[in-house]
Amino acid sequence: MCGIIGYAGGENSARAVDVVLESLARLEYRGYDSAGIAIVADGEIVQVKKAGKLQGLLDELDKHPLPPTSTAIGHTRWATHGSPTDANAHPHMSFDGRVTVVHNGIVENHGELARGLAERGIQPISETDTEIVAHLLALALADTGDLTEAMRMTVRELEGSFTLVAVAADSPGTVVAARRNAPLVVGLGDGENFVGSDVAAFVSRTQRAIEMGQDEMVTIRPDSVSIQTFDGTPVDRAEFHVDWNVDAAVKGGFDTFMEKEIHDQPSAVRDTLLGRMSPSGSLQLDELRIDESILRRIDKIIVVACGTAAYAGHVAKYAVEHWCRIPVEVELAHEFRYRDPVVSEKTLVVAITQSGETMDTLMAIRHAKDQGAKILAIVNTHGSTIARESDAVLYTHAGPEVAVASTKAFVAQITAAYLLGLYLAQLRGNKYSDEVVTYLDELMKMPDRVAEVIARADEIKALARDMKDVTSVLFLGRHVGYPVALEGALKLKELAYIHAEGFAAGELKHGPIALVEDGQPVFLIVPTPRRPLLHAKVMSNLREVSARGARVLCIAEEGDTAVDEFAHAVFRIPETPTLLHPLVSVVPLQIFALALATEKGLNVDQPRNLAKSVTVE
Ligand code: G6P
Repeated sequence: MCGIIGYAGGENSARAVDVVLESLARLEYRGYDSAGIAIVADGEIVQVKKAGKLQGLLDELDKHPLPPTSTAIGHTRWATHGSPTDANAHPHMSFDGRVTVVHNGIVENHGELARGLAERGIQPISETDTEIVAHLLALALADTGDLTEAMRMTVRELEGSFTLVAVAADSPGTVVAARRNAPLVVGLGDGENFVGSDVAAFVSRTQRAIEMGQDEMVTIRPDSVSIQTFDGTPVDRAEFHVDWNVDAAVKGGFDTFMEKEIHDQPSAVRDTLLGRMSPSGSLQLDELRIDESILRRIDKIIVVACGTAAYAGHVAKYAVEHWCRIPVEVELAHEFRYRDPVVSEKTLVVAITQSGETMDTLMAIRHAKDQGAKILAIVNTHGSTIARESDAVLYTHAGPEVAVASTKAFVAQITAAYLLGLYLAQLRGNKYSDEVVTYLDELMKMPDRVAEVIARADEIKALARDMKDVTSVLFLGRHVGYPVALEGALKLKELAYIHAEGFAAGELKHGPIALVEDGQPVFLIVPTPRRPLLHAKVMSNLREVSARGARVLCIAEEGDTAVDEFAHAVFRIPETPTLLHPLVSVVPLQIFALALATEKGLNVDQPRNLAKSVTVE
């Protein structure tokens, strides 16, 4: 988490402040408990930082504008060390005022380093680990006279995770950045260059970017970008094109990013499917660095992910096991990492992540790699760490997801995981290519079906208005409807701060049914009646809760009249094959959570305590 931007413009460019503030607005989703900016002007560093949302910083700058300059860095914070106060906000200036730095991550040996500084009479004024880095940089700069060299000396002393971006009073036009276990991407402009936590930082200004590797640092100037490893070896890396459209990162006429992103879902599914079929009829992944002979031999798949991405993995398990006849385990990345998972060279670990930066997921894939497993990542963000460290990558083309609560990434992740399942099924001979084509044709119908559901959002919004005062909501589903129930409950917790639980509908009678009393709202995800056995079991669950006074809200297919007798309200979804149901049945639940949070006057895009990209364990 934390959003970082660094900008080096040409001599005549005086727009660094505007560039950095605009980037901070785009990066605010990464953390929003304080924000700050520092500039280099007339041989001095000037910085302004404020606790609270970015708007607080903007108001302050309106009152006391910064002078025009070509060199600036900025930061939007999600606190780890030290509470969100003005003093703890970034940038952090060195004791001599000659260097300032912004940081994402945790410097684990900051206590020991602080003791070393204290012996030299340098006392921190904030509670952060970052400030220690600023002082170390200033000492190194005094020794070497060169900011790049000073950064290299400093990072060698640091343990933990960090992206650092620094400027020095005596180096106008130069920004130096370094990364270990935290995200950093370089943006290549024309007579100006950028560094950022992700491409959203600069995509409105350039679509040319370079990924930064682990333990690498970069020095940007208006006309040059020079990358090297922490031990000084120069790195020559090809640039990539950011295929995110600039408009995709703004709200596009909707009140909130989340609402926009819900409406983006048909194209997120469509774009993820686009171009996957080669003229010869085989499926294409984006980056495949695993020999196909290895994929033919794998005997187990473990999906590692967190939050919504884990539920996407949970959905995919049903399809991949059915199509490929390979056992699939789905494990929360943080649990996987710290037990003793059974992993071998024949295990394929599939990491699912929107940001590609979730630290728990990153640590899980590193652990799996150490055990000899192959790693395939389903990722939304190009240039992210998990994409780079995996043996194969399948990108979801959902575009930037800004709202903290994930929506379009979820449907894109399911789509991508299904593509992976079909690819493996074809490769391993479990499905003929014409069968794969039939499934792909069905998948291609999903964007329109998702759009149909979104077009009826007002029905669900009306329901939410009616339920504004509820204090607890249960979600039930069976088969692929089960992870959808879990996701529906998660959305409600995240956005509306309401107690919500998702259950496997069959598990109800083993305990949770004790929660059901008169008027208890229960969402029930009803499978297609064209799977009669599955449908009949869910109908039994519907009767069970209804008999105990629950207020049952069904998500059911068009024409499924069996639910009418017991449901208090039915939200209709189009007829859809069982395995593809989650792509449509999750949508009303997302809209419900959004609408309820809006009714309660809550901040939908930035719910309390949460961060979009959780880059600490
Ligand atoms: C955070 C976000 C969730 C997200 C999870 C995994 O907790 O608030 O919305 O599902 O991280 O993020 P990832 O980027 O790995 O998909």
